[in-house]
Amino acid sequence: MSTVAEHYAKHLGPIYLWMAGGPEAALQAGGAEIAALNLPLAEGAAVFDLGAGFGMHSIPLARRGARVTAIDTSVELLHTLAELGGNLPITPVNDDLLAFQSYIMEAPSAILCMGDTITHLPEFGAVDSLIASAAAALLPGGLFITSFRDYSVPLVGDQRFIPVRSDDTRILTCFLEYEPKTVIVHDILHQRTSEGWQTLVSHYRKLRLSPEQLIASLKSNGFNVRREAGLRGMVRLVAQSV
Ligand SMILES: C[S@@+](CC[C@H](N)C(=O)[O-])C[C@H]1O[C@@H](n2cnc3c(N)ncnc32)[C@H](O)[C@@H]1O
Repeated sequence: MSTVAEHYAKHLGPIYLWMAGGPEAALQAGGAEIAALNLPLAEGAAVFDLGAGFGMHSIPLARRGARVTAIDTSVELLHTLAELGGNLPITPVNDDLLAFQSYIMEAPSAILCMGDTITHLPEFGAVDSLIASAAAALLPGGLFITSFRDYSVPLVGDQRFIPVRSDDTRILTCFLEYEPKTVIVHDILHQRTSEGWQTLVSHYRKLRLSPEQLIASLKSNGFNVRREAGLRGMVRLVAQSV
């Protein structure tokens, strides 16, 4: 079993942008999600993007005038973010997102943890402590926004095989193996090489978070919470500190 960081370093990092549809489509989708959120951000507002990846949300946020701190454990994805982000006001940080408070220079107006990143945390206690830290860090009225897959109801039988993306050169399929509180995610990659097809397999663990569990944690930390439909079947929670 790989750790999350190992899984991204050796398996998903190199193909992540391809998996997301390529830079243009991915940034368009991220931009549309940021536009739909219609965040009330002042010019130059401080925003944190936790588990920022290649900048699917950091880049559109910075294009809208935010100063973004983009934290991720994948060096490769942060390099891609820096290339795609050009001169935009984004500070890439290679660290665990749970350490985000160490990088705060001024209270953020918003903290995002998007695209199923929150399920990568090692246990529910870490999710709870992230939410408590976000509540403590945000400006009054600030927003904590997260989107994630609801793995609380297990898929069964053939449903557990999920085609992620394929083209002439690659086929990525995900297989889900359920445990009581976690799900083991097997990413199976077939890649065309000059010697024929190569198969690469790696697996790691994610949390089976339910929206209700997260909403309860957010409310107990003083947030008002709105639940919405996120991208690609994810749940999106928009929580405002009071
Ligand atoms: C599913 S991707 C989502 C990326 C991005 N938020 C998006 O919506 O495209 C999860 C990202 O979180 C990062 N990640 C996972 N666990 C992390 C942690 N504990 N600290 C920092 N980054 C983490 C991974 O390296 C990866 O880039």
